[in-house]
Amino acid sequence: MRRVVFNQKGGVGKSSITCNLAAISAARGKRTLVVDLDPQGNSTHYLLGKPAADLKDTAADLLEQTVAFSVFNRRPEEFVHASSFDNLFVLPSSPELDFLERKLEAKHKIYKLREFLKNWATRLTRSTSIPHRH
Ligand SMILES: Nc1ncnc2c1ncn2[C@@H]1O[C@H](COP(=O)(O)OP(=O)(O)OP(=O)(O)O)[C@@H](O)[C@H]1O
Ligand SMILES: [Mg+2]
Repeated sequence: MRRVVFNQKGGVGKSSITCNLAAISAARGKRTLVVDLDPQGNSTHYLLGKPAADLKDTAADLLEQTVAFSVFNRRPEEFVHASSFDNLFVLPSSPELDFLERKLEAKHKIYKLREFLKNWATRLTRSTSIPHRH
């Protein structure tokens, strides 16, 4: 299921609504992943209770792997954080996402995340175990 929460204006409640919709979905028993790509990291902060800047293993770290030359890439699931709510998971933001967007564009890798999400859609609904870290 996909939902778009859109408003050009800042600070009107987009992130709050997104987190609440995700929480409702999780409360109904669906394994739900919030992907926070806003370098401000408000959704990450709302759901994990910590500023994005204080977290390791973020969306920026995942995407950084795709622009860096590395043979030993970590699996996308390793960047997913369990929230304190059942069924509710977060791919956290990072202030570094701001710079990364341009790097991904330059290397024509801006759609990498779409591939991860496609795979996750099938894998995360199964019983992948995501540890609590907070
Ligand atoms: N639990 C809360 N209690 C009171 N105010 C809150 C709470 N959560 C968020 N807010 C405030 O509500 C407003 C809307 O927050 P939100 O982050 O959802 O907006 P947004 O549209 O995503 O903003 P942005 O455009 O900056 O991403 C902000 O001013 C925020 O500080
Ligand atoms: Mg927001």
